[in-house]
Amino acid sequence: MSDHREMVFSGTRVYLRGLEENDLTLRPKWFNDPEINRTLLMDYPISLATTMAWFRRAAQEQHHSRIDLSICDTATDRVIGMTGLLRIDRRHLHAQFYMTIGEKDYWGRHIPDEVIPMVLRYAFGNLNLNKIYLWTIPANTHARRVYERNGFVQEACMAQHFYCRGALQDIYQHRILKEEWLKDAPRKKTSEGGD
Ligand SMILES: CC(C)(COP(=O)(O)OP(=O)(O)OC[C@H]1O[C@@H](n2cnc3c(N)ncnc32)[C@H](O)[C@@H]1OP(=O)(O)O)[C@@H](O)C(=O)NCCC(=O)NCCS
Repeated sequence: MSDHREMVFSGTRVYLRGLEENDLTLRPKWFNDPEINRTLLMDYPISLATTMAWFRRAAQEQHHSRIDLSICDTATDRVIGMTGLLRIDRRHLHAQFYMTIGEKDYWGRHIPDEVIPMVLRYAFGNLNLNKIYLWTIPANTHARRVYERNGFVQEACMAQHFYCRGALQDIYQHRILKEEWLKDAPRKKTSEGGD
């Protein structure tokens, strides 16, 4: 992941940089936490070994079909979460956004309001994508409130769409188009100040 290790997006309270191998021990800690994994579309528990294998696979795809970033506290450099883009499609010009604030003492501080504009600015401004979408499970009302506050609109509820944790899960899909992002001057201004 050398290219993205260099990549830094600076906000006020947090910055984003490429995911590093040293960050990986945090993933099992976060994703095996029941309060976190019940909100995610993934199977658990995960081990450090499966995380390392995932990291090696993801490293091959960086720059092409995915970007994985660590969310770091500007004051302390502590890694508090992960974000990025999956399924980057350069023909259809879309990608899937994801985000987890794994350190729960950072919840409720509206950190996503810094993270989301930085990633969208990169997606629309640098990668020149046209649409960013994201998935939430129906119970994840907290996350949807965060995403809607940041300009995402719901465009679908897909019944029994994704298999994980032993069942086919329903999924809400939210999206933001580049033209919608550009229209929102205040958010654009915030993100322009961000890196
Ligand atoms: C969803 C998530 C990214 C939101 O991060 P956050 O830092 O809590 O975001 P915010 O500070 O904007 O708070 C969002 C809402 O969570 C609620 N919240 C705040 N503190 C909370 C806490 N300690 N516990 C639970 N919910 C809390 C608040 O109601 C807040 O709503 P508000 O906008 O009315 O204040 C984070 O909770 C998370 O990573 N959760 C687990 C993984 C996940 O759901 N990822 C998204 C999957 S698509």
